Amino acid sequence: MAKRKRKYVPGIAQINFKPNDDWEPEEAQKLYRNADHPGKVDEIIFDDCIIGMQNLPADYVDLVIADPPFGIDFSGKEHFYNRNSEYVQEGYRDVEGDYGTFTQRWMKELPRIMKNTASAYIFSGWTNLLEILVAGKKANLELINHIVWKYPFGVFTKRKFVTSHYHILLFVKNPQKYYFNKIEHYPLDVWEISRNYKPGQKKNGTKLPEEVITRAINFSSKPGDLVFDPFMGNGTTAVSAKTNYRHFLGYEINKSMKEILRNNLDSVADGQNYLPYRTYLPTLEELAEKYPAIKKVLESKKGN
Ligand SMILES: C[S@@+](CC[C@H](N)C(=O)[O-])C[C@H]1O[C@@H](n2cnc3c(N)ncnc32)[C@H](O)[C@@H]1O
Repeated sequence: MAKRKRKYVPGIAQINFKPNDDWEPEEAQKLYRNADHPGKVDEIIFDDCIIGMQNLPADYVDLVIADPPFGIDFSGKEHFYNRNSEYVQEGYRDVEGDYGTFTQRWMKELPRIMKNTASAYIFSGWTNLLEILVAGKKANLELINHIVWKYPFGVFTKRKFVTSHYHILLFVKNPQKYYFNKIEHYPLDVWEISRNYKPGQKKNGTKLPEEVITRAINFSSKPGDLVFDPFMGNGTTAVSAKTNYRHFLGYEINKSMKEILRNNLDSVADGQNYLPYRTYLPTLEELAEKYPAIKKVLESKKGN
């Protein structure tokens, strides 16, 4: 076996790491403004996404983010997180009939509207995971990663473990062509992100944190790209896309969400959260703090 020539220093590869692609804010803004998509963009359509997707052009979207209804008897008004249900919007639409059939019906529409370079991040609780996996296979989508989103709390239980994770399945249309911007040296498939809860704000009870969606957007799309969400809910995908110089398009069947969605989108500006990816990386000082061996290398360099 070939011998390693230089001594291995844990963490050293991170010092020289650069994201595959990166854009200064002016470049990202230009790409966003000049993007030319062959149909509707920056719209939420209040209709059934299955019919909606059938009317979209082929090879249209760069990224799909989908957080489908749960398929359990969940009204969106549950007191899961000690919420005041006054602030939870009525009309959350769950699935009527068999969850597997519903899942196969909407996922079947994805490959046609996805570009060859596109990915789809599908959210699922563990109870519906099997249906999503089966539907992905039937739709000829390729499973690239099974991400676990871990949040720090869950509903109190007496005779079983507390669920404090969600599944995010990363599917692609073409495993050779899909776009993946490696913006971190060692991106793990377990994401630890808190559920954020803004008291006193009206919304439907299933809102995802923007940070989770933005992570998917950052790794799997470029500024100016079109991000599609068939189940908009509170519009988290639309807000994350808009604030990071991406265009969005989506469906929501619950018309009573219209005003909340409009307010959420009007309260943010194009690109307001956009930062070049290099600025997310740990500094030399942070790396030295984490890896004592790096500290020694840096100190010896200073001494020379
Ligand atoms: C889990 S929630 C999405 C929450 C969203 N990710 C957020 O952060 O706010 C699912 C949403 O899908 C909507 N929905 C259910 N069936 C639908 C359908 N056939 N077409 C479009 N929207 C649908 C529900 O009304 C609900 O708002």
